Amino acid sequence: MRSSNDNSPFRDPVDVHESLDPNDWPALRAQGHRMLDDMFDYIQDIRQRPVWQPAPATAHEAFRQPLPRHGIGLAELHDTFLRDIVPYSVGNAHPGFMGWVHGGGTAVGMLAEMLAAGLNANVGGRSQMPVEVERQVTRWMAKLFGFPATASGLFVTGTSMANLIGVLIARVSALGTGVRSGGVAAGGARLVAYTSSAAHGCIAQAMDLAGLGTQRLRVIGVNDNFEFDIAELERAIESDRRDGLQPFFVAATVGTVDVGAIDDLQAVADIAQRHGLWFHVDGAYGALAMFSPTLAPRLAGIERADSLAFDFHKWGQVPYDAGFVLVRDAALQLQTFASPASYLRREARGLAAGSPWPCDLGPDLSRSFRALKVWFTLKAFGIDRIGKVIERTCELAQYLARRIEAHSELELLVPVALNIVCFRYRCAQPDRVNADIVASLHESGVAAPSTTTVHGQLAIRAAIVNHRTSQQDVDQLLSAVLALGTDRVDKAA
Ligand SMILES: Cc1ncc(COP(=O)(O)O)c(C=O)c1O
Repeated sequence: MRSSNDNSPFRDPVDVHESLDPNDWPALRAQGHRMLDDMFDYIQDIRQRPVWQPAPATAHEAFRQPLPRHGIGLAELHDTFLRDIVPYSVGNAHPGFMGWVHGGGTAVGMLAEMLAAGLNANVGGRSQMPVEVERQVTRWMAKLFGFPATASGLFVTGTSMANLIGVLIARVSALGTGVRSGGVAAGGARLVAYTSSAAHGCIAQAMDLAGLGTQRLRVIGVNDNFEFDIAELERAIESDRRDGLQPFFVAATVGTVDVGAIDDLQAVADIAQRHGLWFHVDGAYGALAMFSPTLAPRLAGIERADSLAFDFHKWGQVPYDAGFVLVRDAALQLQTFASPASYLRREARGLAAGSPWPCDLGPDLSRSFRALKVWFTLKAFGIDRIGKVIERTCELAQYLARRIEAHSELELLVPVALNIVCFRYRCAQPDRVNADIVASLHESGVAAPSTTTVHGQLAIRAAIVNHRTSQQDVDQLLSAVLALGTDRVDKAA
């Protein structure tokens, strides 16, 4: 990497001042290699660890110390990391982790993240290759989801932010760019949005943050499979129109957070088209089912979305965080966010070329190089292999459901649509007992499902997302639930 050419204009500095670079590069290299090896060990030996364990007081103590005036050695800091942080993290890299919807990450993604951090590119804009990497991922996603090649895309923290961006663009689509200066109240517009009762809470939050108000979100019922009730959606739109409101946005979900249901996207798209609504799809984890030729047909209609939100950090197994929003009408996304400023002036050449910049497509100006770990992951594994991982998590969920149905002590609460299994231990006071079983499971370190409420009942919810999860992990979850359930029932008797 170093230039040996004495005539090079890129010479070593003659003015050696106090920068934050090390005085002893070889020592830093040796320490860095140890740190890298430790993280490889962590991933390689993850099965030998508990999924999760509570942090002792001594670990908390390490993070109650005053702001340091003077630095200490990297080796000592790393020791603290290994001792007081690593064992007490959430545990989603572990194959026994089945809570919420968390991806497992990969060593490839970790390495790419290290490279991105070393490069330290601010990917808000400017003429640089990291922006091109993001643009390539955008083109790939446009092709994958059947969007036009002119679609725009943006990396964001996660689907919560991507959904908010969808709502904000839809708002401009409905009211024009004047809403950016005048606000929603100015024109007296009475915008109203629609989603299903199975949608994630961040859709309502997006209405709140966009200044539209959660009361202007109609929460439509679901059918027996937890899918959007299409007839009720249409009735609600018609009723709101009669009341002088302005229906403008509908969000369908691919992979609902509680049970993994997939809304009938064609039907929602038809209604959106008929009534002139913006059609948004929240595909937080489910959209990447598109990587699997077997599952992709179930997402039919996704290509009709005006905007699509999803995460690479869930089923895509990219390390956190890597949310993404794909928008059919690039001009509209630009009109929603671009905020010219003299200090962000664009040029036809030089570093300030290459407009529009990513900062013109969303609220963030400073942005990390999220695209690199996604690009590395997609290139290193290929989408067929990730698609197989996704299929296998669904097969494991079906396996778990079959095993649950074979045990009279257990009850499957919802048919399994994708990779999420909601079940419970049958007993008196099932809500209390099942919550207690899950907390004990967490503390055992054997498995980490989460809980939710379905049909008004507390469910143990196993979301199999991690590529490391195997049949053995599913068996261990089930044995532990049965043992804990029997123990609770025996104690109550
Ligand atoms: C359907 C759905 N939408 C949105 C979200 C929020 O995504 P994020 O946590 O990446 O913001 C989730 C998270 O699990 C989800 O399942």
